[in-house]
Amino acid sequence: MSITAPAPTLPPTTTCDGRQLAARAWVSAVADLLEPDEIVWCDGSADERTRLTALMVEAGTLLPLDPARRPGSYLARSDPSDVARIESRTFICSDDEADAGPTNLWRDPTSMRRELHGVVRGAMRGRTMYVVPFSMGPLGGPISQVGIEITDSLYVVVSMHVMTRVSREVLRMIDHGASYVPAVHTLGAPLEPGQADVPWPCSPTKYIAHFPRTREIWSYGSGYGGNALLGKKCFALRIASTMGRAEGWLAEHMLIVRATSPQGHDYHLAAAFPSACGKTNLAMLEPTVPGWSVETIGDDIAWMRPGPDGRLRAINPEAGFFGVAPGTGWSTNPTAMRTVARDTIFTNVALTDDGDVWWEGMTEEPPAHLTDWQGQDWTPGCGRPAAHPNARFTVAAAQCPTIAHDWEDPDGVALDAIVLGGRRASNVPLVAEAYSWQHGVLMGATVSSEQTAAAEGTVGELRRDPFAMLPFCGMNMADHWQHWLDVGARLDPARRPVIFQVNWFRKGADGSFLWPGFGENSRVVEWLLRRTDLRSRPEGASAERPGVEDDVRPWGGPVPGARDTAVGRVPADGSLDVTGLDLAAGALDELFRVDRDAWLHEATLTEEFFAQFGDRVPTALRTELSTLRARLTR
Ligand code: GTP
Ligand code: SPV
Ligand code: MN
Repeated sequence: MSITAPAPTLPPTTTCDGRQLAARAWVSAVADLLEPDEIVWCDGSADERTRLTALMVEAGTLLPLDPARRPGSYLARSDPSDVARIESRTFICSDDEADAGPTNLWRDPTSMRRELHGVVRGAMRGRTMYVVPFSMGPLGGPISQVGIEITDSLYVVVSMHVMTRVSREVLRMIDHGASYVPAVHTLGAPLEPGQADVPWPCSPTKYIAHFPRTREIWSYGSGYGGNALLGKKCFALRIASTMGRAEGWLAEHMLIVRATSPQGHDYHLAAAFPSACGKTNLAMLEPTVPGWSVETIGDDIAWMRPGPDGRLRAINPEAGFFGVAPGTGWSTNPTAMRTVARDTIFTNVALTDDGDVWWEGMTEEPPAHLTDWQGQDWTPGCGRPAAHPNARFTVAAAQCPTIAHDWEDPDGVALDAIVLGGRRASNVPLVAEAYSWQHGVLMGATVSSEQTAAAEGTVGELRRDPFAMLPFCGMNMADHWQHWLDVGARLDPARRPVIFQVNWFRKGADGSFLWPGFGENSRVVEWLLRRTDLRSRPEGASAERPGVEDDVRPWGGPVPGARDTAVGRVPADGSLDVTGLDLAAGALDELFRVDRDAWLHEATLTEEFFAQFGDRVPTALRTELSTLRARLTR
C-alpha cells in the first residue's frame, strides 16, 4: 500500500466547513503558490495612485502627456500581442458542463485547478503582488458586491482605482462576514534575478478562468482590459450573472441613462449593445431634439433588481469608463472628449509631436506626423492605423460633464425602457417595440451583430450575440433567457420596462449608413420613451391602435403612434421626429422595411441556433418564435 500525496491544485477559498476563507488566509495561500518578492495591500488613496503611477513612468509603462495639453494623463502602449479580450482562452468551469452551455468554453473545475496550479506556480517571482480590495457599486449598497483582486500589474492596480471603488473598508466588511469574489491576476512574466523588465510584460499563454460555484476568477498572461481588470467582465458580468440567477437579479452588458423630457419628466433607460457597438456613445448622448436632456449613469454594465414597488431598479457597478477611442470625436461624442480632457490613461492610441494623443475619428484631418500605437513613425496615407482599433481611454465616471448628480445612489434608478441592439447592415429596423415582455426576451435572445475589434476574431463577421452577452454570460445562455422571463414575471406588468430593439447601423444599397446616428439617436430615444407612457394608460385604452395617439400624459407629452409589423411596433408615419434631418430619399422607408423572406430565413437560423441548447430553451421563446413566423406568413 502506498500513500499518495494530494494532487497539486489551486489553493481553496473555503474552510473545511464551507465558510469562505478570511481574506488574509486566502491571500497568503495565493502568495505561497505565486511566490512574489513582496506583498502590498492597497488602500485606493490618491497618494497610492500617485506613487504607483510614478513607478510606471519610471518603468516605461506609462508615458506622461504634455500637462499643458492633457493634465494628469498618460499613454500606455501594450505588447502588440495583447490588445483585446481573448474569447478563445476564456473558460467557464462549472461543475456540470451543461451549466456552461454551448456558447461558452467549459473546463472541468478540478482539472482546471490542477492545470492552473502548474501554470501559475512561481508566476510572480521577482515581482510585487498587489492586493486590491474593491467594491462593485457604492460601498455597502444593497445591490453592490465586493471582491479582492490580486495582481502583479501596476497598470491593473491603477486602472482598478479608476474603474472600481478600491478601499480598505472592503477588508473590514469581509472581516465582518461579507462574502467576496476572490480574483487572481498575473501577467505570467516572472523576472529572474538581474533580468530587465519590459514596459508591458505578458505571456503568450493565456487563461481567463471562472469558477461559478466558488465565485473565483483566475487570469493568467494578459494585462489588457477585460482580461485583467477583473472587476469588469469577469466579475460584474460572468460571475455576477450566475450570482444574479441564484439570487433573483440580472447582470447585463448595458449602459444606463436618464432622459428628461421638455415637460420635465424623468425617464430611465438601460441598453445592451455588443462590444464597440455604441453603449458609451448613447450613455453620453447629446440630444438634438429640442428640450430634451440626457444624464449619464453608466456606460457598460448594469446590475438590475426588482424593487419592492414592482419596478426594475438598476445601478452601474463601475466607477469609471474604459471606452473605445477610435471613432470618438468632437462631432460624434463631444461629452466623451470633455471627459478625457485630463486625468486619463490612454492605451494604444497615437502620440502627437506636441505630447498629446490622437486616434482615427478624433478629428477629420489627421496630424501631419504621429507616433503610432506601436511607437513607429506615422504619416497620413502610410497604410497603417495610427491607433489600434481597440485603443481605449480609462477615466473616472465622475469626470463626465453629463454624469447624473445621483449616479451613485445605492438603490439605483427605476427603468422605463430596455433597449437591445446590434450592428446590422440589413434587416433589423431602426427601432421596434416588443409586443410583450416575452417578445422582448425573444428579441434579446436572437440579437446578432457584426463582430468588432473589441475581441480577437474576424471584424465584420455576423454572429449571434444574445443580449450582447455572448462573451460575458457565466452560465448556459438558455438559462439566462429563462431568468429574464422569471425576473419579468416578478415585476408589476403595468410598471415594468418596455423592451425595444434598435439598429443604428443599417446600410443602404451604396453601403453607407442610412441613419446619421450619435446625437440624432435622441429622436429614436424620444419616440421610445414616450411610448412607455402607454403603461400608465387607464384600463381598456388600446396600446395596439396604429396611428398617432393624441392622448396626453399628466406630464404633458403626446404619445407617438405605432404601426404593427411582423417584427414589432415601429413608428407610425410622422410619429418619429425627423424634422431638419438630411436623410437620403427613401432612407426612412428602408430603415423600417421588413423583408419577409429575409426574416423567415432569420427565423430558420434562429431555430438552428436554439437547437444547440436542446430543451433548455424556454417554451415561451419557442412559442414567441412560432408567433413571429405566423406574423411573417400572415
Ligand atoms: P465597449 O466599450 O466595447 O462595450 O463598446 P461600446 O458599446 O461602448 O461602443 P462605443 O460607444 O464606444 O462605440 C463604438 C464604435 O461605434 C465607435 O467607433 C463609435 O463611433 C461607433 N458608434 C457609436 N454610436 C454610433 C452610431 O449611432 N452610429 C454609427 N454609425 N456609429 C456609432
Ligand atoms: C468590451 O469588450 O465589451 C469592453 C472592453 O467593454 S473590455 O473591458 O476589454 O471587455
Ligand atoms: Mn463593453
